Amino acid sequence: MSHRPAEALYRLLMRPFAGLGQRLRHGSWRFRLAAAALTLVLLSGTGLLFAWSGLVPVAASSGHWPLTDWLLHFTMRSSVRTQSASITPPPLDDPSLVLKGAGHYATGCAFCHGAPGQERSLIVERMTPAPPFLPPRIAEWGPEELFWIVKNGIKFTAMPAWPALGREDEVWALVAFLEQLPGMSPQRYRELALGPGAAATVPRLQAPTDAPDALLADCARCHGDDGLGRGLGAYPKLAGQREAYLLASLRAYASGTRQSGIMQPIVAGLDDQALQALARHYAGLPAPATQEAPPAPPAQGEALARQGLPERGVPGCVHCHGPTSTPRNRQYPEIAGQYPGYLALQLQLFRDGLRGGSEYAHVMHSAARRLDDEQIEQLARYYGAQPWSSRDRPAEPR
Ligand code: HEC
Ligand code: HEC
Ligand code: HEC
Repeated sequence: MSHRPAEALYRLLMRPFAGLGQRLRHGSWRFRLAAAALTLVLLSGTGLLFAWSGLVPVAASSGHWPLTDWLLHFTMRSSVRTQSASITPPPLDDPSLVLKGAGHYATGCAFCHGAPGQERSLIVERMTPAPPFLPPRIAEWGPEELFWIVKNGIKFTAMPAWPALGREDEVWALVAFLEQLPGMSPQRYRELALGPGAAATVPRLQAPTDAPDALLADCARCHGDDGLGRGLGAYPKLAGQREAYLLASLRAYASGTRQSGIMQPIVAGLDDQALQALARHYAGLPAPATQEAPPAPPAQGEALARQGLPERGVPGCVHCHGPTSTPRNRQYPEIAGQYPGYLALQLQLFRDGLRGGSEYAHVMHSAARRLDDEQIEQLARYYGAQPWSSRDRPAEPR
């Protein structure tokens, strides 16, 4: 007797669903579609309600359940594998690529991932997921996969994308370094990333400081105490470069009109006074007086530099970059004696529309647009073989 009202209520509630199974099996496709849509709406409504209730655990402190952890990593690995499948790695054993990658690793990765002889920060170990100590993990990934991860970053983790997405050449430098990371000794790491006279640690991912000494110590990791770029062409020579050009370049990195995932994070956030002090410092450093005998410059490079390619509208370089006996615009950089590898890279970037710079940078786009790889190589070798302390410089105002 007592269950009668309950039964009646149940019947009433179920009335709309009477014969539902039948209708789903035999009803029109419109009915089935509507049923599917309604189910979807109900399910997402329930999900939304669950999220709104605040019962979803988002605390990093509680970590992931093993199942969630497995599922997320399975998804991440599969995604990286598929999306990197069409990437072909360039040769990665060039020591100047490794050096360049090491310098940035200390700026932008070691804080989260540790390095030989350097533990991860205690703070990042409390992230979920925590960035792994990287050296033992490298062997698990192919170079194209590392490239994809470092370029794009990983959503829903703290793994950031490359700061200058156009600069794939810099991402490859990072990969070249990562490939050498397994088994690297702490001493070798410090030599590469922090320079020969390295201080114990580099505090990065901190608010930039304008204190000139701390700043210069950081610059010196890569550009050297003497401003000569540490020899391999990974980093450009700055010593004795024109002050106006140095300042314009630093401002261009700081404002993002010149892209580099390596230099932009270093100077972003510095005030203009600090940039001026840095430009003055490097312009004032002496270019070395004596040089080892440079290799003979290619004659074809010299002809190109002097005459350009009139038929293709490429101007001669000497009017703006020397050697010439007339004074030149002080905004135009000194390129005689610069590393050939660095010069060739910048010319390729200008040609491909990836190199910004000062308000004068557009003149280089037209100069470089019609140069092929061979001509770039010849020009880079010609200028690289000139003495860095250029003949016509002392007569000019900086
Ligand atoms: C703010 C912290 C942070 C910084 C900075 C950072 N990463 Fe990561 N990285 C992570 C996190 C978090 C993951 C994901 C870990 C996971 O899924 O378990 C990750 C994953 C990776 C992986 C995949 C590792 C594996 O085996 O699962 C690689 C490789 C990597 N990062 C390289 C780099 C490089 C190179 C840099 C510097 C250019 C860098 N990361 C900068 C946090 C960081
Ligand atoms: C992690 C290594 C690294 C550090 C640290 C670093 N640089 Fe650089 N720097 C580079 C690289 C690599 C380039 C070339 C970037 C490019 O391709 O545009 C560069 C380019 C430059 C240029 C442009 C040179 C030219 O001929 O156009 C200037 C100026 C410069 N750096 C100044 C500085 C100053 C000042 C500091 C310190 C506040 C500094 N750099 C710290 C690696 C570094
Ligand atoms: C009309 C003047 C002009 C001509 C002609 C010219 N350049 Fe330039 N070049 C510049 C200016 C200005 C910059 C600096 C751009 C910036 O970063 O703002 C520059 C930058 C460069 C750089 C980058 C230097 C560095 O330190 O990053 C290279 C390399 C270069 N030029 C090579 C050449 C070559 C090779 C030619 C001849 C094919 C040439 N230039 C012709 C004005 C000129």
